[in-house]
Amino acid sequence: MAPKMYIETYGCQMNEYESDRTFRTFEQAHGFARTEKIDNADLVLLNTCSIRDKADQKAFSSLGRLRVAKTLRPEMVIAVGGCLVQSQGDEIRRRAPFVDVVFGTHQWEKLPTLVEKARKERQQIVDVDMYGWNKYKFLPYRSAIGVHPVSEFVTIQNGCDKFCTFCLVPFTRGREVSRSPEEIFDEVKLLSEKGTKEVTLLGQNVNAYGRDRSGQIGFGELLDRVAEVPELKRIRFMTSHPSEMSDELVERLADNPKICRHLHLPLQSGSDRVLDKMNRQYTLREFRKRVESLRKAMPDLTLTTDLIVGFPSETEDDFQSTLNAVNEFEFDDSFSFVYSPRPNTKAAKWVEDFVNADVASERLDRLQALQRAIQTKKNVQTVGKQYEVLVEGASRKNPKELAGKNQHHHTINFEAASDLVGELVQIRILEARHNTLKGERVP
Ligand code: SAH
Ligand code: SF4
Ligand code: F3S
Repeated sequence: MAPKMYIETYGCQMNEYESDRTFRTFEQAHGFARTEKIDNADLVLLNTCSIRDKADQKAFSSLGRLRVAKTLRPEMVIAVGGCLVQSQGDEIRRRAPFVDVVFGTHQWEKLPTLVEKARKERQQIVDVDMYGWNKYKFLPYRSAIGVHPVSEFVTIQNGCDKFCTFCLVPFTRGREVSRSPEEIFDEVKLLSEKGTKEVTLLGQNVNAYGRDRSGQIGFGELLDRVAEVPELKRIRFMTSHPSEMSDELVERLADNPKICRHLHLPLQSGSDRVLDKMNRQYTLREFRKRVESLRKAMPDLTLTTDLIVGFPSETEDDFQSTLNAVNEFEFDDSFSFVYSPRPNTKAAKWVEDFVNADVASERLDRLQALQRAIQTKKNVQTVGKQYEVLVEGASRKNPKELAGKNQHHHTINFEAASDLVGELVQIRILEARHNTLKGERVP
């Protein structure tokens, strides 16, 4: 019988990508099948995140479940990796001595070797070295088994050099490294030949792609070249940093119809004082200028953002500036969080400036209520409009309906008699629901 692999993944799309490609590697090399039950797994992979305290808590409670599973089935091999391990590896080893492989964010490529070693030696293997700039190895894409028929992630960059004062990523993923264009093209070509219609290019600061590789192409050219893959219908990317959106990039986005009309551009705060303390490297005025040029070049562009409330020393006035900015820019969606102090980061040391937890959570509620109101208004404005929708599969709530996305950011449901997965269809919006739009097919 095929050995079974159980995977739990927390965190961003880059973690999802790493878990997914790692499974496909084990599937191809050792015939592993995926299982959704820990109890019958031969190999367990826990891929952790540490972006906020809640992410840490989730990983530690997963470790509790894994401890039980390992007691019942001692022959299973448990590998725990990712950003929390990179940041708090010693704590994981102390609290979870039963874990067989403890690995950091730079070991993905050699995980099969580490697992094999643990299996043979029957002792805990620890490898959390950060290999430093340019020695980082991206996961090789060896297997075309299980390619998604509609949409796939492709990592193009690892790490971050920005050092926003709240953020752990530069400490967990290390310095910014760009993947070679050849590897990216090979992966995109293989995926699209196997049926994928859309790729999302991933990195923490994709606009800086190529900067670490002198003489190599930059992000704009990478996008154009990826768009040349004939079978590919759509390209998405994230995350863009507002201080790195050049005019040239804006032009390229506007000129290329395969690049989706949706940009995720994290603002974080509407107060210049707070932005400065966050080390974001832009002012509200500069952000506004960026948004204006983007909307001028692409009037139908959908804009989403990330926001933090309760950053150390944030006053009610600062918070009001964030509310004003949300009102002004009318983001189509936003992900908002209460500031969470992270080990090693600068802001975590400003303890005397920490904002009271109740005040911060009340601010978050107000911000999210405002965002919901804006979103409802914007969703209603889509009624009667017609969009090209890439069909993803059956709708989650109603099996008679299919669901897909337009180029922007909207999920659209519609009734259909036949299986249209992976096809582009024209849909007119009939009704705006809470998080989705309902439409009908236009011949
Ligand atoms: N590279 C992206 C962000 C990656 S982390 C960028 O520069 O925007 C995703 C989001 O998590 C961030 O945009 C931020 O809003 C939030 N975040 C990161 N660290 C946080 C912290 N310590 N507390 C609360 N939110 C945080
Ligand atoms: Fe973190 Fe800032 Fe880098 Fe984004 S740009 S990953 S928020 S340090
Ligand atoms: Fe989390 Fe690491 Fe991604 S901290 S958000 S998994 S880069």
